[in-house]
Amino acid sequence: MRIPDDKIEEVRNAADIVDVIGATVRLKKRGRSYVGLCPFHQEKTPSFTVSPDKQMFHCFGCSKGGNVFTFVMERDKMTFVEAVRCLADRAGIRLPAEGGESRDGETEQEQLLEICRLAGLHFQQNLLNHVEGQLALEYLRHRGFTDETIRKFGLGYALNSWDDMVQFARREHLDPALVEKAGLLVRREDQTGLYDRFRGRAMFPIHSASGRTIAFGARKLREDDPLGKYINSPETPVYNKSRVLYGLFYAREAIREKEFVVLVEGYADLITVAQSGIENVVASSGTALTEEQIQLISRYARKVTLVYDADSAGSKATLRGGDLIIERDLDVRVAALPAGEDPDSFVRKNSGNAFSALLEGAESFVDFRARQLHAGGFFATPEGKTQAIRSLVETIARYPDELKRTLYLKRIAQEYDVYESVLFREMEKITGRHPVQHRFGKKQDVPQDALAQHAPAVALRNDRPVPPAERDLLRLVLEHKGVMLRYIFSRIDKDLLTSPVVRQIFEAVDGHEERGEPWEPGTLVDELGDQEAKQLVARLMMPQHELSKGWREMGSDPPPPDPYTIANDCIDLLHQQQVDERIDGVYRAMKDAELRGDDITSYQEEILALQNEKRILKQRNAG
Ligand code: UTP
Ligand code: MN
Repeated sequence: MRIPDDKIEEVRNAADIVDVIGATVRLKKRGRSYVGLCPFHQEKTPSFTVSPDKQMFHCFGCSKGGNVFTFVMERDKMTFVEAVRCLADRAGIRLPAEGGESRDGETEQEQLLEICRLAGLHFQQNLLNHVEGQLALEYLRHRGFTDETIRKFGLGYALNSWDDMVQFARREHLDPALVEKAGLLVRREDQTGLYDRFRGRAMFPIHSASGRTIAFGARKLREDDPLGKYINSPETPVYNKSRVLYGLFYAREAIREKEFVVLVEGYADLITVAQSGIENVVASSGTALTEEQIQLISRYARKVTLVYDADSAGSKATLRGGDLIIERDLDVRVAALPAGEDPDSFVRKNSGNAFSALLEGAESFVDFRARQLHAGGFFATPEGKTQAIRSLVETIARYPDELKRTLYLKRIAQEYDVYESVLFREMEKITGRHPVQHRFGKKQDVPQDALAQHAPAVALRNDRPVPPAERDLLRLVLEHKGVMLRYIFSRIDKDLLTSPVVRQIFEAVDGHEERGEPWEPGTLVDELGDQEAKQLVARLMMPQHELSKGWREMGSDPPPPDPYTIANDCIDLLHQQQVDERIDGVYRAMKDAELRGDDITSYQEEILALQNEKRILKQRNAG
């Protein structure tokens, strides 16, 4: 039996290819794609690639490829319809039952959709042709909606009556039980009959992504209406709130074209913004942003701008969605409106252009959260600051992209005067990942806590941390001197050392070597003018430093770390960090250029080149 195209689309939207394939193939993130061992042929190195952007997979080894349905068909040896059913089950989407066609040849889903379509037309008729509709039409026009907009979005009016829809159903020979199921009629408590759900309200039809009417939002017009400002259709077999974004059908083209989505809260917000020419806009409409809605967005664009109404409680819920969006690896920004405004009122008071400017000035979600915490007075006390920073780090830790995490942590460190290493450690606690970590010997055998023991930077006076890699290099230089020293000096450029203290000690050692004078760490301490430098050398020469403690805890036979491995790892890491910093610099310059409206292609190219450089460094490090 045929599954309606609409339903197939719904299943496709719900079944993220990375999730589906990830359930049976172990996938690893590689840039924008994922790779893994191909399930369709024997291989030792991964050539099976999945693109979340394109929602496609391809194996460079055996050439199998396709979309989420093809994958399930191949894997489970299913027909297309079986694959769609299988994925629908997984996503909790109800499909018309097999052979479940009603007498007149239509599935229940089709009938419900038809009922919604007819009801939408009926509401439209009421608005445009019924005397009672005049009031609603005036209201909508007064809100600044043009007649064209009213037509485009199919706006309508539900008569102020308990049985207009009941009668409509009778006239149109619609099964009242199905009209009830479509959410338009409500059963009386005593079960004796049905009455209209929507009475005396402006009607906003809600469409599926493929443009079919599936539900309604209804706005109150009369003072004496005792119910809420908006009443919405309940969940029905054709309407699953958490999977729908209001306006998506109208916005799809524009979103693809502009490559970003503007996310607002309300029906009116969406319509006014779209009418002003910014058509890549969708609304979450009354629900906190859900996982499914974000997944839906991610099929069309990778960038989302939340337009935040400074006061509303609903937008707090939307903001909570920011964390979810980050986890999907989408770029999420927040444009803050002046207090008391929503996008609708802002556009009407100002203009679409003003709104565009607001969008362009949107800040990253992390910056927004930081500013919010700042405004909330969190940074005024040490306790508050700790709390605020921890919460920011929690948000940052959600970014699946390591580079983004690093850049944001660096930014927070600068902006709020906290040591990077402290932030990195905080993040490691949350993620269990080690973004700044080098391998000593065979890292995979080292328990996490042993690494954590090792990772903390040496705290000096003023609590000023020395990056672990620099500290470990310095230790090698001090302990091994001779060959090791020459090896490190031949590989390292002093610019790589970020700690002034470490640099100072390296220079002192270098001086000795140049002059051919013998030296010992003990004598070096005397020569160093700086108290911090003296302390560091002394500290490193103590027999019980963190490293040996870490290794000891591992139990019986710790693999002895080979000093050359340590040296190479440290130097590679410093190189990578330097590249990171350069990327950060170019990134900032690009952002400025973007604000000025300049062409940013050259910046993007430079970032790509640097990222490539980093990748090569990493590969070398891994190899
Ligand atoms: P708002 O209360 O911000 O209203 O709700 P609004 O969109 O600005 O409405 P107007 O401009 O006064 O017409 C934002 C959204 O939350 C949902 C609706 O989707 C609304 O558009 N909502 C609000 C409800 O579902 N029920 C309500 O009672 C209120
Ligand atoms: Mn409003």
